[in-house]
Amino acid sequence: MGKLQDKVAVITGGASGIGAETARLFVSEGAKVVLVDLNEEKGKAFEEELKAITPHVLFIKADITSEEEVENIFAQAVSTFGTVDVVFNNAGIGRVHPSHDLEYSEWRKTVNVDLDGVFLVARESIRNMLQTGGGTIVNTASMYGWVGSPGSAAYNAAKGGVINLTRSLALEYADQNIRINAVCPGFIDTPIIPEEDKQALASITPLKRLGKAEEMAKAVLFMSSDDSSFMTGSSLTLDGGYTAQ
Ligand SMILES: NC(=O)c1ccc[n+]([C@@H]2O[C@H](COP(=O)([O-])OP(=O)(O)OC[C@H]3O[C@@H](n4cnc5c(N)ncnc54)[C@H](O)[C@@H]3O)[C@@H](O)[C@H]2O)c1
Repeated sequence: MGKLQDKVAVITGGASGIGAETARLFVSEGAKVVLVDLNEEKGKAFEEELKAITPHVLFIKADITSEEEVENIFAQAVSTFGTVDVVFNNAGIGRVHPSHDLEYSEWRKTVNVDLDGVFLVARESIRNMLQTGGGTIVNTASMYGWVGSPGSAAYNAAKGGVINLTRSLALEYADQNIRINAVCPGFIDTPIIPEEDKQALASITPLKRLGKAEEMAKAVLFMSSDDSSFMTGSSLTLDGGYTAQ
């Protein structure tokens, strides 16, 4: 019996990095998985890869900043698999640019995906879970939701917002059997980090390496399953010691 046996899990940003590794782990724990991503090519290829292991996989191309597309994700998930039990609200973008020179449109774009999009997916998840009797949601924040860094004001503000959004929603729906937590990764070896930056980022991490997406997936599985049954409103940091400094 897997830890998510026969549960239906929606994973945004599921075509790449942390989302994809979490999908792989969820499938190995018995879940039916809905992969959501803007990147159709990568999403479809990954759907095919997982279909070699289980027939219970569906890729949906969607933009988490569109209310209509987010509603459609859940409508399709329910019509295919009958319900949604688990949501990994993980899609995000990161940009580094000096703040005094940052166009307002760039600020809006980052906050739109990294905070507004997370809210829209959480809202639709909760609407569904209120009807079905509950579920779990894990939002992806960042260690940069706890601390600052130069050149990433919009990203860091959005990720700080995700941590407090997580607390607030968790309190609002605690009595409805909906548990909501967040994962706060440090520097993780995924395509979001430019290849040329990886060595420097590993060297400023106390454990002297980048984290692996698989290491994040294990924490997300914990927070998504009954193993974390007394946990809600928390943000779990996995950063190789970075924010302990
Ligand atoms: N890798 C790291 O070092 C790190 C550190 C802290 C937090 N995070 C967070 O982890 C999450 C996953 O990132 P990752 O490292 O796996 O990066 P990634 O780039 O490999 O994956 C992110 C995925 O999100 C998708 N996406 C982006 N915007 C979208 C949108 N509007 N709608 C739907 N899908 C969209 C992308 O197409 C991509 O497949 C992000 O929220 C990121 O901010 C990553």
